[in-house]
Amino acid sequence: MGGTVIIYSSFAGKTRKIAKYMAEKAGWDIFDLKLQTNIDLTSYDRIIMGTGVHNGNPYARVTRFVEDHADVFLDKDVALFVSCLYVGERAAKQCSEIAKEFHINNAVFFSTRGEKNEVGLPKDVDAFIERMKS
Ligand SMILES: Cc1cc2nc3c(=O)[nH]c(=O)nc-3n(C[C@H](O)[C@H](O)[C@H](O)COP(=O)(O)O)c2cc1C
Repeated sequence: MGGTVIIYSSFAGKTRKIAKYMAEKAGWDIFDLKLQTNIDLTSYDRIIMGTGVHNGNPYARVTRFVEDHADVFLDKDVALFVSCLYVGERAAKQCSEIAKEFHINNAVFFSTRGEKNEVGLPKDVDAFIERMKS
C-alpha cells in the first residue's frame, strides 16, 4: 500500500502552515522544496503539491519539481493546493490556470482572506484532507 506525500514551497509561511497541518492531521509525509528536491516518490500513490502565488505565478521551485517529474506523475494520483490572497471567481480562475500549466486536474485554492477553521487556517483545508484520505 502506497502512502501520500505533500511537497510544497512557501515564502511567507502560509503554504508551509497548511502543509504541516495536513501532514500532522492525516499522517502524511511532507517535504519542503527549499530544503530538499531529491525526493524518492516510488513509495507514494498520492502526491499533493502545494504552492503560494506571486503575481499570478506558482513558486518556481514547485514549477520545476512538477516539470522534472512529469513522467512519474503520470502513474500517480496528483493533487494541487494553491495558497493565495484572491477569493472567489478570481481565485478559482487563478487556480485553474496554474493547474492547467501543471497538468494537474485535482486542484483547490485556499484563500488567506476566506473563512478560517478553529486553528486559524482556511476552513476548506479540513474538507480537502477528508477528501484526500478517502
Ligand atoms: C509579491 C507578492 C505577490 C503576490 N501575488 C499574488 C497573486 O497574484 N495572487 C494571489 O492570489 N495572491 C498573491 N499574493 C499572496 C500570496 O500568494 C499568499 O499570501 C500566499 O498565501 C503566500 O504563501 P506563502 O506564505 O506560503 O509564501 C502575493 C504575495 C506577494 C508577497
